[in-house]
Amino acid sequence: MSVAAGTQAASRDSVPRHGGPAGMHPVTGVPLPEGIDRVLLTEQQIQTRIGELAAEIDAAHQGHEIVLVAVLKGAFMVVADLVRALRTQASVEFMAVSSYGAARSSSGVVRIIKDLDRDISGRHVVIVEDIVDSGLTLSWLVRNLKARRPASLEICTLLRKPEAVKAPIPVRWVGFELGPEFVVGYGLDYAEHFRGLPYVGLLDDAADSAGRPSSR
Ligand code: PRP
Repeated sequence: MSVAAGTQAASRDSVPRHGGPAGMHPVTGVPLPEGIDRVLLTEQQIQTRIGELAAEIDAAHQGHEIVLVAVLKGAFMVVADLVRALRTQASVEFMAVSSYGAARSSSGVVRIIKDLDRDISGRHVVIVEDIVDSGLTLSWLVRNLKARRPASLEICTLLRKPEAVKAPIPVRWVGFELGPEFVVGYGLDYAEHFRGLPYVGLLDDAADSAGRPSSR
């Protein structure tokens, strides 16, 4: 499966399955940090796509103020770029959630670590995610936020993995559809490393054999 732009612009931003060359940045030629095998999505590809997503959100919310609800930690970078690309008036709220032991894998029950600071009833809300993998986090979050009676509730994710495509979650805006590879960078971590990379990359074999999780 190739990495491809989301359904909003399926013909654009396609990149080869394994992205750039091993060990170096495909645009700058700069060696990649230890642990990163290759770049899957460059800074420019990400920024271009976020600009497109922002334009689509603007078009959908003409005349509305919106509330962006970013899911920590991973979404901090995408929401920072998205809010700057939007023309629509947008406030930013953060939520942090965590699994209840192992329950998340079976039931999708999660625990709120940090809740919203403001009431969202009657507001137009866009949940902002970095990645949707199994879809369990979003399923739970949508149920939780809907109960607060927003005027509308939509989802924007930069990345979506194959499992999530099967999940019954109405994700309106998807940046890129990924393959099954474990990705890091641009907010996404491996054991809290690599969140600060400005691109999305793949781990190298050494990091792999150190025991990365089987999914995102
Ligand atoms: C990631 C991501 C999503 C969630 C998606 O967060 O930011 O919130 O996983 O996975 P799912 O679709 O299988 O539920 P993670 O749990 O890695 O926490 P983090 O953002 O703090 O790194």
